[in-house]
Amino acid sequence: MKILLFAGSLRKDSLNKKVVRFTDKLLKSNLDLKTTVVDLQTLNIPVYDGDIETAGIPEGVKTLAALVASANAIIISSPEYNGSMSSPLKNTLDWLSRVKPLPITKKPILMLGASPGALGATRGLAHARWPLETLGNFLYPEAMGFMHADQAFDENEDLKDPVQLAKLQKLINSFIEYAGKLK
Ligand SMILES: Cc1cc2nc3c(=O)[nH]c(=O)nc-3n(C[C@H](O)[C@H](O)[C@H](O)COP(=O)(O)O)c2cc1C
Repeated sequence: MKILLFAGSLRKDSLNKKVVRFTDKLLKSNLDLKTTVVDLQTLNIPVYDGDIETAGIPEGVKTLAALVASANAIIISSPEYNGSMSSPLKNTLDWLSRVKPLPITKKPILMLGASPGALGATRGLAHARWPLETLGNFLYPEAMGFMHADQAFDENEDLKDPVQLAKLQKLINSFIEYAGKLK
């Protein structure tokens, strides 16, 4: 099974990119999985503009669309901005929705999120479900928010809290089982 992971944040020191890299590390212990991590910052996807679309779908969008289309499942870790989904994630989904055939549909998707705050981006995760479901994807019913995520990782970028680690591992295992049934 091919799993694509990305963060809904662009910045280099993103906490959500740490969640993605750590989740990828956990997935790598399962030899049946092939994982790909994509950094949206490197794709230089512009803010959606119909005139840019008329001139041609940007290369970064085409690159991501190909990765999404070939994935059997997707894991996204995203911050929340002002109690909703992040603008980079929304913009990315809007661009992907303009690619034909639609690459991001009928995909099992697991939502994770991280924030230095006490809510762990969970409000943003709830809002992200809406466009993803509108596009016809299968959102895993559970999600996980990492609260106080600026304190959550050690110098090796491993999760410090064994309880949180066990919860993430269990969630990943059940998501893979779910995605396998939909494959
Ligand atoms: C425009 C903006 C709005 C934000 N709104 C929220 C918010 O509603 N809730 C929250 O917990 N954090 C909020 N934050 C703080 C982010 O959670 C924090 O910057 C986080 O580190 C961003 O994720 P990243 O580290 O993956 O880039 C906001 C940050 C920005 C830039």
